[in-house]
Amino acid sequence: MADTLSQAAPTTISEDETRTYDPASDVVEQANVTAYMHEKGFKTFDELYTWSIENSEAFWTDMANRLEWYTPWEKVLDDSEAPFYKWFTGAQFNIIHNAVDRHLKTWRRNKQALIWEGEDGSYRTFSYLAVNREISKFANILKSMGVQQGDIVSIYLPRIPELMFAMLACAKIGAAHSVIYGGFSVEALAERMTDAQSKVLITADGGWLRGKIVPLKQTANEAMARTPNVQTCIVVKRTGQDVSMESGRDYWYHELLTLPIASPKCETVPVDAEHPLYILYTSGTTGKPKGVLHVHAGYAVGISATFNMTFDIKEEDRWWCAADPGWVTGHSYIVYAPLIEGATSFMYEGAPNYPYPNRWWALIEKYSINILYTAPTAIRGLMRFGDAWPNRHDLSSLRLLGSVGEPINPEAWRWYHKVIGKEQCPIMDTWWQTETGSFMITPNPTTPLKPGSGTRAFLGIIADVVDETGKSLGANEDGLLVIKKPWPSMMRTILHNPERYANQYWKSEPAGMYTAGDSARKDEDGYFWVIGRIDDVIKVSGYRLGTAEVESALVSHSSVAEAAVIGLDHEVKGTAIHAFVILREGKEGNSALEEELKAHVGHEMGPIAKPEKISIVTTLPKTRSGKIMRRVLKAQALGQDPGDVSTLE
Ligand code: PRX
Repeated sequence: MADTLSQAAPTTISEDETRTYDPASDVVEQANVTAYMHEKGFKTFDELYTWSIENSEAFWTDMANRLEWYTPWEKVLDDSEAPFYKWFTGAQFNIIHNAVDRHLKTWRRNKQALIWEGEDGSYRTFSYLAVNREISKFANILKSMGVQQGDIVSIYLPRIPELMFAMLACAKIGAAHSVIYGGFSVEALAERMTDAQSKVLITADGGWLRGKIVPLKQTANEAMARTPNVQTCIVVKRTGQDVSMESGRDYWYHELLTLPIASPKCETVPVDAEHPLYILYTSGTTGKPKGVLHVHAGYAVGISATFNMTFDIKEEDRWWCAADPGWVTGHSYIVYAPLIEGATSFMYEGAPNYPYPNRWWALIEKYSINILYTAPTAIRGLMRFGDAWPNRHDLSSLRLLGSVGEPINPEAWRWYHKVIGKEQCPIMDTWWQTETGSFMITPNPTTPLKPGSGTRAFLGIIADVVDETGKSLGANEDGLLVIKKPWPSMMRTILHNPERYANQYWKSEPAGMYTAGDSARKDEDGYFWVIGRIDDVIKVSGYRLGTAEVESALVSHSSVAEAAVIGLDHEVKGTAIHAFVILREGKEGNSALEEELKAHVGHEMGPIAKPEKISIVTTLPKTRSGKIMRRVLKAQALGQDPGDVSTLE
């Protein structure tokens, strides 16, 4: 059965490339954004948008008033130290009060906040009341381990409910969390724990992926050996294999829960609106990942507003963001925004095609999911298995779909629309970044859609495509994607490196606006088409990796003298890594060594960073100042003309 189905070809959809997809009138009438438009007295979304950017503080005030504040703000936007913008200054706030505490005063206390299914089929569900109990116990344990306001707790967990609880517990007591994606490995984990100077690490024995154990504790042990700052490690039992525990440092979470310290009562601490909520490391142009800082209040305002209006969340919906909580998508739209909006969030631990390629479709049917938000790479990956897998399932509960992380190719868009959404579900292609915190360019359910375009900017957001002097470009001209004014959920700084934040995002050309690092064009209808990164960042399966990070993992191998990596197009991953390596004197290149190098990068950084291909070379194209010209490598790999090589040594 499995084999027959997996061989069926996906529908080929050869629609007119320029077709737009208009929303159904009932979708428009019932949309949250339509209600807001009427409330403001506007007849069209365009009028509402124009008002929102001309009166952006009034718009964000409306959005802030959807939340509860311990004490009101004095200023909506403080730009006195631009580009270190502050929002809702003077207010006392806590995101947990809004995500959990306020719901406990209403009937929502008994509503399901989280439904979780493990890859092994295990199932857990938590009401808002239960979430509160879990995070209060966790918060009390953290306090007893000496965690204080302002500390950064590192979290390295599989996709299990405790990941959500650990994050929320930190926020509840005013500590910041730094979640390190469970797919990262020793070097990546150690580097992030060192940069954050974490004293506490929360991990698990392992997680399930494709029926195998991902040995998180083993990796954490190796990483902790490189990070003396970590004094305490809390270990959640998930997979049950033997793991090595260091006495006096490592504690089983389930054992801590039986102690009197784990009381289910814990007050949420009011903090300043600008108090740090989390650090999330993301790749940039240097080998060192950037610790992007987000704060409690502005972030809560941005993510809840975008979630409400873009994904149109309704009280009775079941929402599934299939990202990993270890990435910003999971932070904003699995954990915080759904809880703030009082929604029911679904989380699944494992691989989309385990044990068969229908796993996701079976989950949608089983849990009656209404909105699915995922990445183009997952759509392309599942599309490969053909239509028969989704067609076996009742997907009629779906009413909206979403995409994020990289440009979605129109073919995948149309398959998603037709085969998964049965032509009934608008697709929200949301463009944003770790740094932006929430959607910047996105449709809402009332927007006519063009496959592959994120359409227009969100309310209150002024996005544009400009040249290096900041001049707006005309229709269909390629340029730099920028955001021209600050917004509440924006990153506040890079941990330990405020200069890099100011210079890279706001002061570099075009100065005075937020430069995203993406190239894009706007069409004659003002729709944005994101082309891709303009820096040395590669998006592999939607995951952001710096070429320099992969290169430094390669040169940490004893056979490697120098390395350069580039991204090449890949049918499913979007982009795959191709590494060029110069060996040390006396080392001999062969296929065994190539495999060893791939495994080495996997061990150091994590499986997602494993190069697809390794080429052993004797020279690398460099500028006279020694910078590797990846553009030339790429042209060589593709057999193309490398263009201007006047700076080539
Ligand atoms: O290049 C853009 C791409 O992902 C980058 C941000 O990556 P990250 O911080 O990991 O956040 C991913 C999830 C928000 C952007 O600079 N990107 C993200 N969403 C889209 C996209 N490219 C095209 N279309 C999108 N919808």
